[in-house]
Amino acid sequence: GIDPNFEESREKVGEENGLDVWGPVDEPEQLGIHGSHVAVDYDICVADGACLENCPVDVFDWVDTPGHPASETKVEPTREDQCIDCMLCVDICPVDAIDVDAS
Ligand code: SF4
Ligand code: F3S
Repeated sequence: GIDPNFEESREKVGEENGLDVWGPVDEPEQLGIHGSHVAVDYDICVADGACLENCPVDVFDWVDTPGHPASETKVEPTREDQCIDCMLCVDICPVDAIDVDAS
C-alpha cells in the first residue's frame, strides 16, 4: 500500500490539477503520489472507484492515465481541502492506495 511517510521518503516533483505530485515520475508507467492531505498513490490505484463513489464531500475526480500498467484511469483528490477526515476512502480502497493525514 501507499507509504504513509511519503512526504519524507519522496521528493515533490511538481504540481498537477493544483495538487502536489511526489516522485519518482516516469510517464506513462510511473506516476507517483498525487495530493498531500488526501494522497493517492497512482502506481497502486487500480481504478476501483469506491473512494470516489462514497466520499461524503466529493473530494475525487477521475483522470485518464493511458499506458499505466495498473489502470488507465485514476482518482485525483482535487478537492482535498474539503476533506472531513472520515477515513472512509482509506478503509474502503481494496489496494490501500490512499493516505489521509488526519493529524
Ligand atoms: Fe472523502 Fe473521507 Fe476520504 Fe476525506 S477521508 S477524502 S472526506 S472519504
Ligand atoms: Fe483507486 Fe482505491 Fe479509489 S483503487 S479508485 S484509490 S478505491
